[in-house]
Amino acid sequence: MARPIKRFVCQACGSVTNKWSGRCESCGEWNTIAEESAPAPGPAGGGLASGGKGRLLEFTGLTGSTPQPPRYKSGINEFDRVCGGGLVVGSALLIGGDPGIGKSTLMLQMAAALAKQNTACAYISGEEAVDQVRLRAERLGLADADVHLVAATSVRDIVATLERPDAPRIAVIDSIQTMWLDTVDSTPGTVTQVRASAQALVELAKRRGIAVLMVGHVTKDGAIAGPRVLEHMVDTVLYFEGERGHQFRILRTVKNRFGPTDEIGVFEMSDRGLSDVANPSALFLAERRGHVAGACVFAGVEGTRPVLVEIQALVSPSSLGNPRRAVVGWDSNRLAMVLAVLEARCGVNIGANDVYLNVAGGLRINEPAADLAVAAAVVSSLANEHVPPDMVVFGEIGLGGEVRPVSQREARLREAAKLGFRSALVPKGRAGSGPAPRPPEGIAIDEIEHLSDLVARFQPSDGSPKRPRREGDTGRRRE
Ligand code: TYD
Ligand code: MG
Repeated sequence: MARPIKRFVCQACGSVTNKWSGRCESCGEWNTIAEESAPAPGPAGGGLASGGKGRLLEFTGLTGSTPQPPRYKSGINEFDRVCGGGLVVGSALLIGGDPGIGKSTLMLQMAAALAKQNTACAYISGEEAVDQVRLRAERLGLADADVHLVAATSVRDIVATLERPDAPRIAVIDSIQTMWLDTVDSTPGTVTQVRASAQALVELAKRRGIAVLMVGHVTKDGAIAGPRVLEHMVDTVLYFEGERGHQFRILRTVKNRFGPTDEIGVFEMSDRGLSDVANPSALFLAERRGHVAGACVFAGVEGTRPVLVEIQALVSPSSLGNPRRAVVGWDSNRLAMVLAVLEARCGVNIGANDVYLNVAGGLRINEPAADLAVAAAVVSSLANEHVPPDMVVFGEIGLGGEVRPVSQREARLREAAKLGFRSALVPKGRAGSGPAPRPPEGIAIDEIEHLSDLVARFQPSDGSPKRPRREGDTGRRRE
């Protein structure tokens, strides 16, 4: 009998090799390579040479009327928004996040909300027993919702159940890492199993018009464990993020074939589960204390919605040979760039200081438009001068120190004016073409072209730094 062919598959990126090694050559992860048996070769074997001629395909044009896909609205506004206006019939959705962040809670609340509108929804739990899910539902006050609950891990059983004509049209699979297909010879949770299980479920979603929501756990470095490979198979990928210590949770669209990406939904976690946050800016700024050096409000845009957040910087002399740069909620490479531009183009000497940067409230910002706000927070901390508490800042910084216009300027200014901000430090000019809309009433616009204009605003008239000097402190500016 022929020996089964073995192969080695990286559990992080899915690349296949024929020998084991400690580190995956493809993605660089350590200890992720596991032995799995190779899939049996198909009957056609040697490519297209055997197996007959294919069917001829008919081409069509791009014009033609296609109706908008029907959607199920759960009534949980933030969830519906990130899906692009509700769950699309026959779509597959992947929701990733750290363990314990609240994925199961959100899915259960969504299933219950749909059930309350008489849309049947199945909750298939592979991680928790039925009793555990019931207890959680009781705690959330959802025990009377008509959710079709079952504990199962066999994809064959799940597909057979959902094939039935009276089966629910929406199914939550919690989680995809616990699912297994008996035709695949590897343990649940391996890339091969996860991929095969997901493929079977996606195929079911398309064939039967069922919306399938798959929960996936995320590894320490942020990839949905194993199944990065899953992202291209599904229609929508959502990430559920947030700091465990904070009560805010952000649901972020990473990919959506049926709506905009980069959309976020903001939730608050309490002992009664997750609740919608309709006005995130007010929430993110709630704990702000004005008149603090190193704090600056950034007027950002997440998806279609402007969001105001406070950026906090602390610059302090370092006792380390290699000063520390610690960042929470922003890209540390981007901070390094802003610091380098401040040094090289504006003569601000930061080199021997530790720099700590924090986005208050647990939001993660990806926009380059935050550059100017970060620079303002850093310069403000260094000069020990506060940014006016009623001022918002946004703008992108180029390597030459130029401040570049960013998109959605008016939306940012309108949100700032709505929340009572009276001035804005912004780039000169507008991104894009077309006539400039009038800025909103009641907000004074201060336009700058170069980062040194920002630094100059924090310099006292005599040119000396305002920061209280310490012994051995050689001053903050280059001569
Ligand atoms: P869970 O949904 O089980 O997370 P995941 O499925 O992503 O692993 O969430 C568990 C966490 O949420 C747990 O730490 C407790 C907390 N939680 C609340 O704070 N309030 C609640 O009402 C519930 C149900 C959970
Ligand atoms: Mg869970």
